[in-house]
Amino acid sequence: MKTGDTELGAYKLISFDKISSTQDYAHDLIAQKKATDKTVITALAQSAGRGRYRRTWVSHHGNLYASFVYKAVERDPRLSYAVAVAIAETLISFGLKPQIKWPNDVLIDGKKISGVLIEYSQNFVIVGIGINIATCPTVKEYQTTKVKKYADVSIEEVLSVLMKKLDKWRKADFYDVRNRWMELAICINKPVRYQGKDAELIGINEDGALVLRFDTRYVLTYGDEISI
Ligand code: BTN
Repeated sequence: MKTGDTELGAYKLISFDKISSTQDYAHDLIAQKKATDKTVITALAQSAGRGRYRRTWVSHHGNLYASFVYKAVERDPRLSYAVAVAIAETLISFGLKPQIKWPNDVLIDGKKISGVLIEYSQNFVIVGIGINIATCPTVKEYQTTKVKKYADVSIEEVLSVLMKKLDKWRKADFYDVRNRWMELAICINKPVRYQGKDAELIGINEDGALVLRFDTRYVLTYGDEISI
């Protein structure tokens, strides 16, 4: 059920109690030509939350589920890093010590606390963000944790800071985004598995590609998942 339409700074906020997926609602808005730059769709719960790699994003009450719609002229692989830094900085502002797992998973004590799903539609990009605040679902692929384990913060407080951090890091020079991302990232210069092979994670380059080293060979990648 829709619970309101409000203006929050430059953002137009559309809130739901429960929805199938804020991401799908954003796609519908764009398809109906009703989307504008800086529309945010939030829900207290989702019945069909979606994650990367066609995974389900379990979306019980108590966590932050939001899709940010922005005008986008073209696909930009650098956006994913700005978003990860914005989420990490949001959590830092509440006293947490996050780390980023490439490209934009945010972890606390090695456990996932936030995930990001970036999708493009027409001339918009939809940045779907889930942050575990009060509950952390059990997931087969990785361990999870939640904000309330570390700080007493509400969904509204997290959303309000997140909007400001997204504005800041989306506008920032990629040189600064990349430096901050590298400071917060786990596994830089460490061994990782990529497509079933051992590699060393070197970092990200100035275009936003992940740089991996296989012995003497350097490989750039934009899309595949690495495991630690
Ligand atoms: C991931 O797999 O790590 C990405 C998870 C993204 C979840 C968010 S919650 C808000 C938005 N709506 C969705 O259905 N998915 C994204």
